[in-house]
Amino acid sequence: MRKPIIAGNWKMNGSRSSIKELLDGVKAGMGDVKSAEVAVCAPAIYLADVSEQLSGSDVAWGGQNLSTEASGAFTGEISADMLLDFNSKFVIVGHSERRTLYGETDELVAEKFEVARKAGLTPILCIGESLEERESGVTNDVCGRQINAVIERSGVEALADGVIAYEPIWAIGTGKTATPEMAQETHASIRKMIAEKDAAVADKVRIQYGGSMNAGNAAELLAMEDIDGGLIGGASLKAEDFLAICKAAG
Ligand code: 13P
Repeated sequence: MRKPIIAGNWKMNGSRSSIKELLDGVKAGMGDVKSAEVAVCAPAIYLADVSEQLSGSDVAWGGQNLSTEASGAFTGEISADMLLDFNSKFVIVGHSERRTLYGETDELVAEKFEVARKAGLTPILCIGESLEERESGVTNDVCGRQINAVIERSGVEALADGVIAYEPIWAIGTGKTATPEMAQETHASIRKMIAEKDAAVADKVRIQYGGSMNAGNAAELLAMEDIDGGLIGGASLKAEDFLAICKAAG
């Protein structure tokens, strides 16, 4: 059995005071979350606050991006060790916003996955197709290409050290969720592609769904066999909504 994992991706949102309020609310409701693993991925500048507020709680935390470099003259970048310095457990790599707005390639994302994993962070590898790609029937090719970049660089076993987040780009921040059946179909295809290389890894790796998951639609998405959790954007910014999703995961 794969333990479901719900992670909030706060993106570039929040302030010191709003984060305090949000985390107070999340911590207060965690008693009702029975089996899901819960984490928040915060803007790096708030990780000190987040680690202070979440230490000793059942909520883990992490970053939203990292550098492939360990240290040095890389203005504006954040290293794996810096994330670890604040006891981060997770780091998102290859979010579609980074791929599309900041030009991150499959190869760069694979390198980030490897750097994170080797440092002892759990990378959350985001994959997913655009609307145009979905409509032209190449969803599985796109997801396969994005995952294969990691497999080619680090080997299929490396996937088991991370989490995959399937996030159809057309569903992110649009309020348009993939139907549970549509999401399940893609999740199953992703797992099958991995199983062709290593059945044990495919069975073990958790695949989250992301894209307008909210308190109202989480239960039916999470009920699908191959959906092992969620990567939550907008709905992770309200304690009540985020907790409802965590509870729906078990
Ligand atoms: P929304 O939940 O706001 O659609 O964002 C999803 C996402 O991009 C999580 O990484």
